[in-house]
Amino acid sequence: MRIILDCDPGHDDAFAILLATASKEIELLGVTTVVGNSYLENTTKNARTVLDLFDMDIPVFAGCEKPLIRDIIVAPDIHGKSGLEGAQLPSAKRPIEKAHAVDFMAQMLTKYSDIILVPTGPLTNVALFMLRYPHLVKHINSIVLMGGGIAFGNVTPVAEFNIFADPEAAKIVLNSNVPIVMAPLDVTHQVVVTEKEISKMRRLGFKFDLLADLLAFFKSTYKKVFNIDGVPLHDPCTVMYLLHPEIFEVKEYHVDVETRGELTYGQTVVDVWRTSGKVPNAKVMLKADSERFFDVFFEKLSQLKGV
Ligand code: BDR
Ligand code: CA
Repeated sequence: MRIILDCDPGHDDAFAILLATASKEIELLGVTTVVGNSYLENTTKNARTVLDLFDMDIPVFAGCEKPLIRDIIVAPDIHGKSGLEGAQLPSAKRPIEKAHAVDFMAQMLTKYSDIILVPTGPLTNVALFMLRYPHLVKHINSIVLMGGGIAFGNVTPVAEFNIFADPEAAKIVLNSNVPIVMAPLDVTHQVVVTEKEISKMRRLGFKFDLLADLLAFFKSTYKKVFNIDGVPLHDPCTVMYLLHPEIFEVKEYHVDVETRGELTYGQTVVDVWRTSGKVPNAKVMLKADSERFFDVFFEKLSQLKGV
């Protein structure tokens, strides 16, 4: 599977990157970055740091530094000011590639027509790609994204961060006719990192100790902000779905995004009972087998060189 991972690292984004690079089934063509959990400069630095840590030969392309229309929002309360706080990580060494993320996507989609886009941040880059290169949209095999929620949000009562950070972009992507698989909060909150997983990570070796520190920080902010005892590993659900779709229970729904509501701005509107009469445009993950998820997660990550 050829993929482009479009992300805003971000603690859980970092683990999505690592899971993809650790999996032989996946050819990661490049990592593209977007403003989201932190400003673009930081998310791009963080993506490079994570790849440097395990000497991964994957190019990093910076994308949009602001959402299509709305003002920037970032998430320092969850990911720290830098977007990836909690561990003494070495500073990023590899260069940022010259091409803009969106132009890199276009180059790759001109060359290959089987690419899966995997967005784990706000959908600004993907939407801009669609606006700028409409003739290449049909070359996208599918989009497997983390975002949205059916029953609840995490920035407002109904809006999830990645969608709320750029609802107009999300609307473009969901209405693009590209096959979409969506990991909403409803499923990611079933894949929870507790002390058990953090200790298991530490036991894998020195570099994993740093990764365990990241998870511990992420877990502590979830305790502070949401008063819950474990942290959902949101973004890796996308990569895991590619590797082992059977871990997830999925249903097809029509999904759209509210871009005007006073109370509902950024909500994913999921037509569970098909009241809209609209044809489903997304496979939505509803349930995850968390035990199996973590078995595969650790099996894959332990393939990375830890010393
Ligand atoms: C999403 O928001 C970010 O904080 C995480 O990286 C994840 O992509 C969860 O709502
Ligand atoms: Ca993210």
